[in-house]
Amino acid sequence: MPQRSLQDAREFLKDTVRLHIDFAQTDQNKGIAPPPLEKPFDPDKKRIPLVKPRAWQSIKPVTLLAALNHRRSRRRFKTTALTLEELSFLLWATQGLKRRFGNEAAFRTVPSAGARHALETYLCLLRVEGLQPGLYRYLPLEHELLLEYTDNEIALKLVAAVLGQQFVAASAAVFIWAALPYRMEWRYGLAAHKVIALDTGHVCQNLYLACEAIDAGTCAIAAYNQQAIDTLLGINGQDEFTIYLAPVGKV
Ligand SMILES: Cc1cc2nc3c(=O)[nH]c(=O)nc-3n(C[C@H](O)[C@H](O)[C@H](O)COP(=O)(O)O)c2cc1C
Repeated sequence: MPQRSLQDAREFLKDTVRLHIDFAQTDQNKGIAPPPLEKPFDPDKKRIPLVKPRAWQSIKPVTLLAALNHRRSRRRFKTTALTLEELSFLLWATQGLKRRFGNEAAFRTVPSAGARHALETYLCLLRVEGLQPGLYRYLPLEHELLLEYTDNEIALKLVAAVLGQQFVAASAAVFIWAALPYRMEWRYGLAAHKVIALDTGHVCQNLYLACEAIDAGTCAIAAYNQQAIDTLLGINGQDEFTIYLAPVGKV
């Protein structure tokens, strides 16, 4: 990777990039069709229906005040498994769809710059009732899980990929958010990348707060081995790469 100065790195946080962008040249303004709202999947892969919001039985009401007050990063988890309903709730709270505008855009439970939603959610499931340990992906349009592969050793591989942060292996489900930058670049070009990072923060914060409704906890993780996680997810590290993780467990 080329040497970057602190000054260069700080530019990422600013919006000065906008002054140098010719928005007439973005793919959107050139009339190129938008990329899909959801990464396409192999229809032969197993899909698991999730519990829909109106069917939830076990998600208890929690006041916003209580959730904000009680939230903290949790690194100790009980061995209790998550139920499929609890996992369904956490997925809806972090990336669930509320309204869809054809194949162009969708509103979700989190905000996103230009409603582009340039993330996919992978899940390393370790202890979820009825599901084998392995790698899954959330399909927000279908509100289903896609089974990528089962692997009884995945917890050990994940710990190595998060630089030995052992508490990850004690969680029930690890949320791993991958960025697909073109979904945002299509509209914003070089101004896409900072807002993808901002979007991801909103998603993780919703996870922290949603955990409060199911006696669970989480801890944001931004320190990891990029190549190792991307390899675990089976993504190419260029058009799609890991940006953030959060292990969830009962507390
Ligand atoms: C962007 C970001 C990255 C973080 N990365 C890690 C991490 O890699 N490992 C970890 O144990 N905690 C990580 N944390 C959790 C912070 O250490 C934690 O939020 C902080 O100590 C404040 O504690 P609180 O969340 O309980 O208020 C991260 C938090 C954020 C917001």
